[in-house]
Amino acid sequence: MTLMPATQRPLAVVVLAAGKGKRMKSARSKVLHRLAGRPLIQHVLALLAELKPQETVVVVGPGMPEVEAAVAPQRCVVQENQKGTGEAVQVTRAALADFARPGHDVLVAFGDTPLFRPETLAAMVAARDAEPRPDLVVMGFRAADPSGYGRILQDDSGAPRAIVEHKDAGPEERAIDLCNAGLMLVDGGRLFDWLGQLAPNNAQGEYYLTDLAGLAVRDGAGTALVEAPEEEVMGVDSRADLAVAEAVIQTRLRAAAMAGGATLVDPTTVWLSADTRLGRDVTIQPSVFIGPGVTIADEVEIRSFCHLEGVAIESGAIVGPFARLRPGAVIGPEVHIGNFVEVKKATLERGAKANHLAYIGDAKVGAGTNVGAGTIFCNYDGYAKHHCEVGPGVFIGSNAALVAPVTVGAGALIAAGSTVTGDVPADALAIARGKQTNIRDGAGRYRATRQPAKKAKEG
Ligand code: UD1
Repeated sequence: MTLMPATQRPLAVVVLAAGKGKRMKSARSKVLHRLAGRPLIQHVLALLAELKPQETVVVVGPGMPEVEAAVAPQRCVVQENQKGTGEAVQVTRAALADFARPGHDVLVAFGDTPLFRPETLAAMVAARDAEPRPDLVVMGFRAADPSGYGRILQDDSGAPRAIVEHKDAGPEERAIDLCNAGLMLVDGGRLFDWLGQLAPNNAQGEYYLTDLAGLAVRDGAGTALVEAPEEEVMGVDSRADLAVAEAVIQTRLRAAAMAGGATLVDPTTVWLSADTRLGRDVTIQPSVFIGPGVTIADEVEIRSFCHLEGVAIESGAIVGPFARLRPGAVIGPEVHIGNFVEVKKATLERGAKANHLAYIGDAKVGAGTNVGAGTIFCNYDGYAKHHCEVGPGVFIGSNAALVAPVTVGAGALIAAGSTVTGDVPADALAIARGKQTNIRDGAGRYRATRQPAKKAKEG
């Protein structure tokens, strides 16, 4: 990650998220939809946090407690009626009183625009640092299809002199492909004065933040333009946009994973989360899903068709194919988790093995223990979860059921097919299954009773 030049001036950031996002057709607020396992607005806040702002304020609409909860402990201010981006910033006036001074910076960003790179933000800060210092820095981009966006009008030096929204633009302005990305960095001493002068005399009857450009020029304040690649500017308005943005983020995450020393055998089939942490020489085979909260240490191999979330995998472990590791799983060093094995809230210590068809939930499995094929840790009694403690060097034979809570001492052996309901002392052999009876010629007599009926049926 690029180091951000920490701005010398006090900085507040404002994230606008009061819009309803109707085109998502969702009961959930738009900014809570997830990219790489993380809500849109968290991507924006994480990016802005790199600037080390002294204050962060999120503007939400009324009745958005779930957004407030998702961004906690960030401060939220409610915009009662969505009367435009200018009004949305205006409602932060009291919250940002300390920043309404010359030489203080206020950066406005949108909660639904999560793809900016840190270096693009850094360019904005650098533009504000240039002499003569501009009071307004606007983020622009060249749009392949500019319709819908505000167009940036430039003076002879290329600095913005006005921004005209698409709905208010005439044919000449609509022909301009330089569009407003939405990010603005404004001198705090000017911001609220200009916001107070906004008027909703436009096609949408809104208070436009974009009118600041014209007001700045009117007041002889300097403006500057920073251009971003169009890919970074994309806002998420619909499910289709969400899918496009997801693809962009996944491409970046995969590239970062490989740059960090992981092998992705078929990168496009590996889904990563924003917080995935991969060590060196990790190998991920094709078709793997890595959900939030996964840490994978050096030299781990994740084989195809695994689903992982909320899990720590320590060095040298082998997982899969077809393993499901759920939150709270800790896969110790050199552990082997094989096909159709599910692990939840359980720690497997160094060198333990569960190679086939097992469920290990709410448990600790000691070093070097072998969990046989078909073993089930029966952790739930219909009302509560219970814990199993299995010591080191234990051998659990195939198709055993450990009915929690039980403790199995070090070096114990559990016979295949056992249903273990009581503790097993160290080095004991536990057998808990029905005794086998062999009935002499029983198979022959059984066939003799059934065969005639089958023959008659076959005609
Ligand atoms: C805005 C810009 C436009 C730019 C485009 C880039 C204005 C007037 N226009 O237009 O120049 O090209 O973004 O995507 O700024 N919001 C509030 N309260 C409101 C209205 C909006 O919080 O009253 C928030 C929304 O939740 C969203 C952001 O502001 O996060 C942008 O709003 P949106 O309606 O998407 O702006 P556009 O009309 O696309």
